[in-house]
Amino acid sequence: MKIAVVGAGHVGLVTAVTFAHVGHDVAVTDTDAEKLSMLRAGECPFFEPGLQDLLTTSLESGRVSVADTVGEAVDGVEVAFVCVGTPPRASGEANLIAVEKSAQAIAEGATGSLVVVEKSTVPAGTAGRVGAILAKVAPDIGFGVASNPEFLREGSAVQDSLHPERILVGADSPEAFDVMRRLYAPFTDEGVPLVETDVATAELSKHAVNAFLALKVSFINAVARVAESVGADVRDVADLMGSDPRVGRGMLNAGLGFGGSCFHKDLLAFHHLSAQAGYDFRLLPEIIRLNEESVASVAKRVEDALWNPEGKRVALLGLAFKPGTDDIRFAPALELARLLLAKGAAVVGYDPQAGAAAKAEVAELELAADPYEAAAGASCLVLCTEWEEFAGLDMPRLASVMDERSIVDGRNFLDGEAARSAGFTYSGVGHSK
Ligand code: UDX
Repeated sequence: MKIAVVGAGHVGLVTAVTFAHVGHDVAVTDTDAEKLSMLRAGECPFFEPGLQDLLTTSLESGRVSVADTVGEAVDGVEVAFVCVGTPPRASGEANLIAVEKSAQAIAEGATGSLVVVEKSTVPAGTAGRVGAILAKVAPDIGFGVASNPEFLREGSAVQDSLHPERILVGADSPEAFDVMRRLYAPFTDEGVPLVETDVATAELSKHAVNAFLALKVSFINAVARVAESVGADVRDVADLMGSDPRVGRGMLNAGLGFGGSCFHKDLLAFHHLSAQAGYDFRLLPEIIRLNEESVASVAKRVEDALWNPEGKRVALLGLAFKPGTDDIRFAPALELARLLLAKGAAVVGYDPQAGAAAKAEVAELELAADPYEAAAGASCLVLCTEWEEFAGLDMPRLASVMDERSIVDGRNFLDGEAARSAGFTYSGVGHSK
């Protein structure tokens, strides 16, 4: 099938190469001209494991082409995906101007009947608005509208996209469902379930899933606060909770809390949508408050270790919001850096991928070329992002370069025993082992 993907960010680009990989012809476009030039040159504009390889093969095979405009991209396609940003406004409401403009441009460029698919996370009710724009701009073209939210995680987006747990499609007509079934046939033929529902249910489901995942993280972090006081180990509590299939072990790792472009934004947008619908869903902002508390709790622990933070160096290992990405949006490490800088500490960070992006966001942050350079002269080392390379840290070497031997493990990732054997004071989140 011929399809268009509007927006070449994490969602759009992964969507484009995934559909190319299973045999569709994909035209991708974006309003960012620099991004389009990079794509034409075969370069992935951001780091995502496996994406560069898939991009290279799909450009070489001609299954992915890069279009300058939406009009060019939608020429002759059966499906147009909207994968543009939906950032929060000051009120928390999702800013849907990019969705509106995309719908407008798709309608203007459409050459025949096609299904417009929301892939970006949008508030329930958006499809109705999109449908109205399409009908107004091009009343003679038969448009279908569908909501097909993505559930991919950064760092494993390509794998998640190639091997989804399930595919969710909400559509407004039998014809639209038919197109979506043909589009996803390479997946359903392999046994991936395709769940069909109405558009509003699909839109709301995406917000509900993300809010619930964020809730799990905040919940276990609140349990961690209690565990620290009563001498329990939150890791064992999480295992025990997770062994009940009704709870599930995923998203129950206590630590610095969640970051990333989705959870925070979606919680705010979902809260706003609920309020508009006449329901004050107060749990949602509380999840964010608990998340802020997680960072503040680690910051407090670092301050305790430093005694007086002024002029002392703190080394942060990991700056990305999670491992496997160079994305620093809402990264807890950067929030921690800001809190410590405000207390007068000098903060030096190292990240395998996100150093430059972090520095652009927090100018006072010093960057180091590796963990040992970061640790040199530091009074406290904080593990902020659990990159696999930090599992093999040479504790005696770290101890030999630091000014004071203190480690705060913000992700319960390091070997506490090895750290203590090297002379460190080691503390994790939600346990005292
Ligand atoms: C999330 C959703 O998982 C995905 O389905 C959606 O499409 C986009 O948002 P992502 O933000 O890429 O994906 O990352 P995810 O792996 O869900 O982690 C989110 C944050 O929670 C990260 O900062 C991570 O470090 C943190 N986290 C995750 C925890 O603190 N504890 C956990 O147990 C799991």
